[in-house]
Amino acid sequence: MIINLSQQHSLISNWISEIRDVSIQQDRMRFRTNLERIGEIAAYEISKVLPFVEKEVETQLGIAKSKVLLEQPILTTILRAGLPMHQGLLNYFDKADSAFVAAYRKHEKDGSFQISLEYLSSPDLENRILIISDPMLATGASLVKTIKCLKDEGKPKEIHIVAAIACSVGIEYVKREEPTVTIWCGDIDEELTAKNYIVPGLGDAGDLAYGSKRQN
Ligand code: URA
Repeated sequence: MIINLSQQHSLISNWISEIRDVSIQQDRMRFRTNLERIGEIAAYEISKVLPFVEKEVETQLGIAKSKVLLEQPILTTILRAGLPMHQGLLNYFDKADSAFVAAYRKHEKDGSFQISLEYLSSPDLENRILIISDPMLATGASLVKTIKCLKDEGKPKEIHIVAAIACSVGIEYVKREEPTVTIWCGDIDEELTAKNYIVPGLGDAGDLAYGSKRQN
């Protein structure tokens, strides 16, 4: 299932607009803050489909019937671009445990690339609700590789993916490889460049959040 959070009017559209805008996105702190706020909105929207349980709480004046989240999800992100959105999700799912993955595109001379996954730290995922954040769902290759590796840490009962911007090609690939996942995104773009950047997209999310990398 795919949910485009921009289809209804909400503040998420403002922040998607700002992370795309070349006259705003160079303000690195604002860029990270906007990704964090997108993570917060996504957490709020996902919480609406999670199980809740009734609870009686003692107030100063009596007993109130309330509802609380039945269980905390496990939050996972892919270093490094995913960190601000991860923080946003963690602000709302404030008791959640986290998993981290480092994955990058290892380019061959012919222009093709393999996803290299070099670091994974995760709690037991067996029967847990897993939320994976990655700001740019481009080809979907790193997300699919990440999901397959995370499944070695236990089989989650539900997987949600959060992306700020998703490309249709990547969405189709993820749906084909992992048909049961739910994708929550801030917006959907149609094109990828030859180097697999999303068009119009926003550029390199990791560089905009943390600065450019040395080219090898
Ligand atoms: N990663 C990015 O940071 N930007 C893209 O457009 C695609 C992948």
